[in-house]
Amino acid sequence: MSRFILKGDILYSETPSKLSTWKDGVLIVEDGVSKGVFPEVPASFANAPIHDYTGHLIIPGLIDLHLHAPQYAFRGMWMDEELLDWLNKHTFPIEARYKEAAFAEEAYKIFTQDLRRSATTRAVMFSTIHKEATIRLMEAMEETGLVSYVGKVNMDRHSPDILREESAQASVQDTIAWLDEVAGRFQNTHPIITPRFVPSCSDELMEGLGAIVKERGLPVQSHLSENYSEIEWVKQLSPDSANYGDAYDRFHLFGSEGKAIMAHCNHSPDEEVRLMKRRGTFVAHCPDSNANLASGIAPVRRYLDEGVHVGLGTDVAGGATVSLFTTIREAVQHSKLRWRLVDGELPWLTFAEAFFLATAGGGAFFGKVGSFAEGFAADALVLDEHGIPTPLMKELTPQERLERFIYLGHEGSVLHKYVQGVKLF
Ligand code: GUN
Ligand code: FE
Repeated sequence: MSRFILKGDILYSETPSKLSTWKDGVLIVEDGVSKGVFPEVPASFANAPIHDYTGHLIIPGLIDLHLHAPQYAFRGMWMDEELLDWLNKHTFPIEARYKEAAFAEEAYKIFTQDLRRSATTRAVMFSTIHKEATIRLMEAMEETGLVSYVGKVNMDRHSPDILREESAQASVQDTIAWLDEVAGRFQNTHPIITPRFVPSCSDELMEGLGAIVKERGLPVQSHLSENYSEIEWVKQLSPDSANYGDAYDRFHLFGSEGKAIMAHCNHSPDEEVRLMKRRGTFVAHCPDSNANLASGIAPVRRYLDEGVHVGLGTDVAGGATVSLFTTIREAVQHSKLRWRLVDGELPWLTFAEAFFLATAGGGAFFGKVGSFAEGFAADALVLDEHGIPTPLMKELTPQERLERFIYLGHEGSVLHKYVQGVKLF
């Protein structure tokens, strides 16, 4: 049995609105799992080694429910379009490059090295339509020590020849070949079924993917109700669906059989929200991308209040950065603008609530993840506040220090990272 103790100023979300804080607390870790946080080392753990980070903040690792690994290559550029033009002009041509093994390998090496150093401990990501490049990405993710789901993307319509699979049948066959090739190969890197979004996938393809999900019990990721033009297009493409969500649900691609993550959900009508709730669908809230592509402001308060699962996504490269610190801050800011400009009935998100989304909210997709309560995975970050000048007026509480860190900090400020009780750095 492996046991150790992390000592420092520990914070985690006890509930969506309440942070639990422990100044000079101890987090007990046994076999990669938290045994809880205590003010002193309990007698039964007196002999366990202590990793002493006194004076430093210790928080659960952050969870990214949605990003596009191949788009990391052009993050922070080409933000002058809305979604559909941005996909056609910029995103699809770059994603097509991942057909070349050398390009994919180099790009994914840079991406995975950066993600390893970031605040992210677990991530759910899109690759491209290419099987070989997807396997290279899975290999590189496995090497990081992070836990992830990686999806080979399915696209058989409405994209240029260079980024479109030959037919629904070819797409399904390639997906099955990919799943068979990676089965049992990785400990921490799992496959996820990935219809890009309704406009990219014919009914025949969706049906084939739904059959795979049912047969193999796999989770699903896709995009939902992100942008007005996209939503209108889906209405035309799928006139028999009650709403955009139903266009996935008809094919068993919206949760319940396996789990599903839907990115954005900025403009979901009432009945779509009810369907998400019934199916246990996870919403990946992606504020940076929603601003960059002028998509909208998701009603996250509503999702939280109605008991819809919700976590955060960076959505690189609609979002510019893999930093979930940035995403937490933007989730708060977007909710305030929404309250001011769109709907004064929905209170904004507090800092504690946005922190919950980035930890336990998204963590629930992975099981008992995103908290230090007993029984949760020991995924932890030790933060480095050295670059942030100390204000002179008073000694700050751990919560004030965490909030300030998130508003002022950056990716380089993670001093140490643990995933499942393993120290990565
Ligand atoms: N919808 C379909 N594909 C994409 C993508 O790559 N990024 C975003 N933000 N939305 C999408
Ligand atoms: Fe996306």
